[in-house]
Amino acid sequence: MKKALITGVTGQDGAYLTELLLKKGYKVFGTFRRVSTPNFWRLQTLDVFNKINLIPADLLDMGSLLEAIKVSDPDEIYNLAASSYVGTSFEEAVGNSEITGLAVTKFLEALRNQNPNIRFYQASSSEMYGDNKFKVQNETTPFLPSSPYAAAKLYAHSITNIYKKSYDIFACCGILFNHESPLRGMEFVSRKITNAVAEISLGLKKELVLGNLKAERDWGFAGEFMSAIHLMLQQDKPTDYVISTGVSHSVSDFVKEAFDIVGLNWKKYVKTDPKFFRPLEVRHLRGDSKKAIKELKWKPKVSFEKLVKMMVDEDVRRWKTFLDGKAFPWDAPLYPNESRLITRLSKGKIRKN
Ligand code: NAP
Ligand code: GDD
Repeated sequence: MKKALITGVTGQDGAYLTELLLKKGYKVFGTFRRVSTPNFWRLQTLDVFNKINLIPADLLDMGSLLEAIKVSDPDEIYNLAASSYVGTSFEEAVGNSEITGLAVTKFLEALRNQNPNIRFYQASSSEMYGDNKFKVQNETTPFLPSSPYAAAKLYAHSITNIYKKSYDIFACCGILFNHESPLRGMEFVSRKITNAVAEISLGLKKELVLGNLKAERDWGFAGEFMSAIHLMLQQDKPTDYVISTGVSHSVSDFVKEAFDIVGLNWKKYVKTDPKFFRPLEVRHLRGDSKKAIKELKWKPKVSFEKLVKMMVDEDVRRWKTFLDGKAFPWDAPLYPNESRLITRLSKGKIRKN
């Protein structure tokens, strides 16, 4: 039985990757950060929480990484942990560089010293292309990071390749374009939109305030992107791949699509506020995954329209389930605004549709 160690197992990708690897018969170990209130709602939603071996580890603590490798003795490591929200990386630039960037060197050092035969996956990002001038980005497109997050990811990407070439380690970087799902964090624009659309459609909220509506992203479904990263570690030789759908849409396209699903005109509800604009914006991302399609035989199947519908439907279902008084694994109570709404609803202070 193959063994895999996933860092960042409590995140969106960690949950889907766990589900995939368990289906493939792997024994799965996952690291989680010690926080005052542990948060396993995604693993619970996918019903994999009781099937995984959890190891406390922090990317900032090399001892804990060494221990995680020792305890799990894995064939494959998927390094998904990062401080992944670009917006916050401007406010917490130093911490972000340490967690998302420098920590990867510590991990590679731990791996090199403990067992250099382990196959290593590094979660690189299309954000590394930054505010580039190219219509489409692939593995040969120059990087131009436009955020502290992207700079840290580019450092991690580079150091992974340096260790691969210097020490003959099987290490791959997946340059993944934006991938979303009903398990996406609510700070990201896709889920911020679909959650607000659900609330507005149920009469729980009156408006949605966003930043730059013109930014364009290549949005895919996280669940199917995880099979691509698994395939990367099954190849004969380690190499980097762009994983994307090849189709881009603007934030306003996403908004329109989501409001259309519940039969509302988005223009009546959406406002913009400069506080949600970034100091530096990445205006356009669109990936070219020809290499992955050819070598990994991987192809995305979930369209933009299907993805938005999947997310809106699930957020509507969640709010309805909550209003019916039923408990279920959910992240809304963890966010200040949603938590306040939930409290007011529980006290009967808001009238719903
Ligand atoms: P996510 O939902 O934000 O999950 C990030 C994970 O990292 C969480 O489990 C988080 O733990 C963990 N983490 C953060 N800081 C840590 C630390 N100091 N020590 C240990 N764990 C820490 O992100 P995701 O969407 O699943 O993305 C997975 C990876 O792919 C990330 O590296 C991200 O940067 C990269 N990526 C994502 C996308 C995308 O569109 N989703 C695209 C390209 C690349 P907590 O739960 O405790 O916060
Ligand atoms: N979050 C957010 N909130 N973004 C907004 C908003 C808003 O209210 N209004 C407009 N946007 C715009 C952002 O300025 C950005 O151009 C775009 O929506 C997408 O923002 P996010 O969903 O926060 O994602 P991201 O593209 O910055 O980063 C995600 O994708 C990267 C891959 O390209 C994250 O998952 C990163 O971890 C990942 O590496």
